[in-house]
Amino acid sequence: MDVLHLKSPKNWINDPNGFVYFNGQYHMFYQYFPYEPVWGTMHWGHAVSDDMVHWEHKDIAIYPSKGYDRNGVFSGNALIKDGKLYLYYTGIQYPNPNLENIHVDANYGLIASQCLMISEDGETFDNYAGKQCLITPSKDEEKMSSVDTRDPKVFKIDDKFFMILGSSHNGKGRIIFLESDDAIHFSQKAEFESDEFGGVFECPDLFNIEDKQVVFCAATDYLKDGLEYSAQEIYKFVKFVPADYSFTWEKESFFLDYGMDLYATQTNFDAEGERVLFAWMRMPVPKMRIDGRRWNGLFTLPRQIYVKNNHLYFKPHKYVEKIFEGSSIIQLPNGIEICGAKYYSVYALHNNYKLSIELKNHTQISIFGYKITYDDGIVTADRSKVYPKGNYRYTNSMPKLCDGEHLDIYVDEDVIEIYANDGEYVLSNVVYLDL
Ligand code: FRU
Repeated sequence: MDVLHLKSPKNWINDPNGFVYFNGQYHMFYQYFPYEPVWGTMHWGHAVSDDMVHWEHKDIAIYPSKGYDRNGVFSGNALIKDGKLYLYYTGIQYPNPNLENIHVDANYGLIASQCLMISEDGETFDNYAGKQCLITPSKDEEKMSSVDTRDPKVFKIDDKFFMILGSSHNGKGRIIFLESDDAIHFSQKAEFESDEFGGVFECPDLFNIEDKQVVFCAATDYLKDGLEYSAQEIYKFVKFVPADYSFTWEKESFFLDYGMDLYATQTNFDAEGERVLFAWMRMPVPKMRIDGRRWNGLFTLPRQIYVKNNHLYFKPHKYVEKIFEGSSIIQLPNGIEICGAKYYSVYALHNNYKLSIELKNHTQISIFGYKITYDDGIVTADRSKVYPKGNYRYTNSMPKLCDGEHLDIYVDEDVIEIYANDGEYVLSNVVYLDL
């Protein structure tokens, strides 16, 4: 059972997939390589939860079993239709078999199909009779790349189903729109590209939030300073009109998280109809569980999204707040220091902590060697003492705070998430602590 952060049970996980509240339970699927803590032939792992805080890992839900997905079951989403769970994903074939390592293509090639698995109950997944290929590999590269088109997100507006796909065209990130009456037969309607969407637009998401429309984009080749990670998750405010397929976007892009580890978001509604976000937190090297199992990859806390001051705020889901209620402690744990704050409170849950801090200029915080400073409105985090050596980002800052001087910091031995002013900005980092 994972508490607070969903982590790889062993070996490798990356993107969250098919997150959905279905038949009274939260389901989370995830990109999973079950054999080693490195990326390889993708499966959909599966975990369930009553509260998005306690996660129980289940058996693998979707695995390669058909010609069109024989080398991997890539990312996608979930839709509830006629009381059944529709799981959309990208089926992968490798064009250049690598006989020394069958889990990657010899030339990093891909052949992509868009696929569907229907599960009656969210508990059984028939990898033989339950799958179908909805969109075979493209034969027209101008219209749709047969290589870099993936990560279907299917949603319903009025009586129509829409699928958006991430893609690439002439080296620019592209979003493709398709439409269907039955959630199975899709026809391509429009495509839009821009270098503002990176080199490949991965894991597209598009939704309304209050009076705004927003697109989430996992953009490859986005930061060009040579450090890990160049691929970054951004959002943009957009205008999509289904009636005539006009799609325009505002020039400005925003990072979802200023720690630069977050990638490949997945959103859907919670039991009360509020939109919730999860994302993958990338880890440079594996960690070891107590029983010696090596693992790599974990997810953010569930985050609620709202609009304020013309941008998106992200704050931990109320279920997360709830489990820390009544857990306040008087003394700071050994290893945590807070200097120069107005005041603070500390909450403890197993080995996890929540620190709520009212800042003053020049407040300094040290969490088992992870340093946070606050100077002239800027929150900066430095993980150089708690992270492996390499070509990585060690120091990250939030934009200048405008909406107060409050931090809520969630500390887990694998990840620290810093939320400023109820989500004005978030900075989350993978760390290597030993609590
Ligand atoms: C994003 C991504 C997706 C793809 C999956 C493969 O991290 O590259 O575009 O479906 O991971 O594991």
